[in-house]
Amino acid sequence: MDEKQEFSTRAVRAGQVRSQFQEHAEALYLTSSFVFDSAAQAQARFVGGDPGVVYSRYTNPTVSMFQDRLAALEGAGACIATSSGMSAILATVMSLLRAGDHVVCSSAVFGATVQLFGNYFARFGVETTFVSPTRAEEWEAAVRKSTKLLFLETPSNPLTEVSDIAALAAIARNAGALLAVDNVFCTPALQRPLELGADLVIHSATKHLDGQGRVLGGAVLGAEKLVNEHMVPFLRTAGPSLSPFNAWVILKGLETLELRMLAQSAAALELARWLESHPAVARVFYPGLESHPQHALARRQQRAGGAVLSFEVKGGRAAAWRLIDATRLISITANLGDVKTTITHPATTTHGRLSPEARAAAGITDGLVRLAVGLEAPADLETDLERGLS
Ligand SMILES: Cc1ncc(COP(=O)(O)O)c(C=O)c1O
Repeated sequence: MDEKQEFSTRAVRAGQVRSQFQEHAEALYLTSSFVFDSAAQAQARFVGGDPGVVYSRYTNPTVSMFQDRLAALEGAGACIATSSGMSAILATVMSLLRAGDHVVCSSAVFGATVQLFGNYFARFGVETTFVSPTRAEEWEAAVRKSTKLLFLETPSNPLTEVSDIAALAAIARNAGALLAVDNVFCTPALQRPLELGADLVIHSATKHLDGQGRVLGGAVLGAEKLVNEHMVPFLRTAGPSLSPFNAWVILKGLETLELRMLAQSAAALELARWLESHPAVARVFYPGLESHPQHALARRQQRAGGAVLSFEVKGGRAAAWRLIDATRLISITANLGDVKTTITHPATTTHGRLSPEARAAAGITDGLVRLAVGLEAPADLETDLERGLS
């Protein structure tokens, strides 16, 4: 990576390697394996003496271009691409932790992430303590001698709580543990956790990195030694590798990432302000609003508020469902990070399996609605929402 290049230049240029045909756009190498000139060359590739490619579970030129470009955007030494965001988290824990190790994790992480830490890793002797995303003192108190990893998402889903990455990085450093940040909501276009002291960045590339709701993918980024010595061997052995086709789609998505994130954040802020002044809305959660409890921190840590906001309508579940069912433009779907705006009712979908008490403790009320804002004109989105609000 050329350190002097701006983000937008790296987004369209970094990582590209041309074949002998000198194609202008990045090539898609849709192949599971690669051919050797001779038995001796095959042997050299397997033992690492020859750096060429062997098999797409290990590496693939299109996947490498995606990894190198994302690493250039996050300011990371290295990156591994994975088949989904969840397999990125799985690969992180399987490569770095062992039975007896302890994790401190934000309680406001994606539902499947809670299951992975609280249920699956626990079966293999890795214990997790869940703490508030915004109270650094809880993280400090939860740390033990055996703590090896601190894990968070910021802003959180769906309430957009913002964690102080630099403060939690300091706690991790003092504990001799690593800090991993799921950067799905902001992407490197808005927030670069490694620059704030985090050790690892995790992505569901399924979301904004693709940006157009087409494919699944994931990534883990960090220092070269950490990724190459610990994560690459796990990926090669266990195989949650990214398909070259998906890598190619996401690689091209990275080229428009900054433009999309800035435009979608601007639209989200406009909608958040409009909703905040609407008489049918009790409360709006968006880091770009002055009323957000961590607004000052978000302004320091993020370049913009991001595309996701949530709001509480007056009238509970019936009013929330009426609003959702009255939309004609906005899509009723659980995904986010798409150029098409999506709407969900967290209490009966993403958080529907929690007990009413656990939902209340997480702040997920029956009137809460999550909006992941896309690239439609905000005026058209307001018209679509107004129908169900009035
Ligand atoms: C913040 C966050 N992290 C991780 C994931 C998991 O990603 P994937 O669906 O690509 O496995 C998701 C959503 O699905 C998410 O919203």
